[in-house]
Amino acid sequence: MEFVMKCLGINEAGNLTIGGCDVKELAKQYKTPLYIMDESDVRKNCRTYVDAIDKYYDGNGLILYASKALSCKYMYKIAMEEGMGVDTVSGGEIYTALAAGFPAEKIYFHGNNKTYDEIEYAVKSNIGCFVVDNEDELDAIDEIAGKYKKTVKIMLRITPGVDAHTHDFIRTGQIDSKFGAALETGAADKLTEYALAKKNVELKGLHCHIGSQIFELAPFCETAEIMMNYIAKLDRKYGVVIEELNLGGGFGIKYTEKDTPIDYDKFIEAVSAVIKKSAADLGVKCPFILMEPGRSIVAPSGITVYTVGTVKKIPNVRTYVCVDGGMGDNPRYILYNSEYDAVLVEKPDAERFEKVTVAGKCCESGDIVIKDIFMPEVKKGDLIAVLATGAYNYSMASNYNRIPRPPVIMAKDGKSKIAVKRETYEDIIANDMI
Ligand code: LLP
Repeated sequence: MEFVMKCLGINEAGNLTIGGCDVKELAKQYKTPLYIMDESDVRKNCRTYVDAIDKYYDGNGLILYASKALSCKYMYKIAMEEGMGVDTVSGGEIYTALAAGFPAEKIYFHGNNKTYDEIEYAVKSNIGCFVVDNEDELDAIDEIAGKYKKTVKIMLRITPGVDAHTHDFIRTGQIDSKFGAALETGAADKLTEYALAKKNVELKGLHCHIGSQIFELAPFCETAEIMMNYIAKLDRKYGVVIEELNLGGGFGIKYTEKDTPIDYDKFIEAVSAVIKKSAADLGVKCPFILMEPGRSIVAPSGITVYTVGTVKKIPNVRTYVCVDGGMGDNPRYILYNSEYDAVLVEKPDAERFEKVTVAGKCCESGDIVIKDIFMPEVKKGDLIAVLATGAYNYSMASNYNRIPRPPVIMAKDGKSKIAVKRETYEDIIANDMI
């Protein structure tokens, strides 16, 4: 039996396993709903990228884990131990990384509208680099750096004009984007000039990110070439040497059989070749490269386990399998019409003959986890594992309907530990002031 995730198995009892643990046992121990990650698999994914930089780019680069995909202290600890940096997008993510002991100099701070307080916090914390989005942000960084008598390292977020084929909401490389300064419109030149005129910042690099859940190499190669051309242009036009090139993340993963991801080291291999060739052709130095995989590090290593509370058959219309979680722990269907695969924990390889819709428990008709999936017969009390939920599930979870967020469990070599504990009703009212 082949699952969409490589790290799953079936044990002698016929139950689903992850990280050497019986998922049914974990559900009994920790209750449901429950996020479970295979820690070794996450680390393997990290290593694929880190090793590829060594293999194809002579180690002249750094992989930044895009921590928005799954942000918790445990994940920052893994990224640190695997020799990576991190991409953060808020004061909260920086705080979590620092609380996990992450080295500040390997923290990159993104975002199209960083607040003054966040910038001040990041400057005071000596984070490694700001990925600057616009002139207003540059004003704030320059002022705050001056106040603390520091020179702050920055890269500029450039919109390369590459249109990647993915969902509209997660596409960022085109001109009509809230992120970055476009090359075609001259905005990128303006932002560069603005940065060069600032006293307390040091322009080290350029950044771009064309979107998420991308399966083709071509847009990444095209982007790398465009960015190398721009690096050469900046050298000619302003005499500025760009030392670092950050090509963002966005490498696609397999959610369902329809998805066809490429081996992740192929992205690095292809992009490395383009950069080396462009550098030689253009007569510029090969930059230090950064990449920011998020989803592909954690999504394929995680599942969510639910208990079925009721099965509602509406004859000739639809069968709803209602589970004890939903849009609170996985808002990706309601946001993007995302598709997932799911299996029964106690019969993962049973024949699937019935089309059902897995629905959540929120007071909202759109609260669907999976629409129209073929499953074996599902009954009240069954455990369902939704696959490949390691990214953008816990990190986008909410307390809608005052439902506590599930815990995140790390499974490794047959043992499990709690990375994030289950929220309680006390947690839910913790900020209520009356
Ligand atoms: N770097 C930058 C600047 C980004 O904006 C992102 C994702 C990444 C890296 C990581 O991309 P990844 O490798 O994870 O695809 N919530 C959406 C995804 C939003 C992605 C936002 N930026 C989802 O659930 O699909």
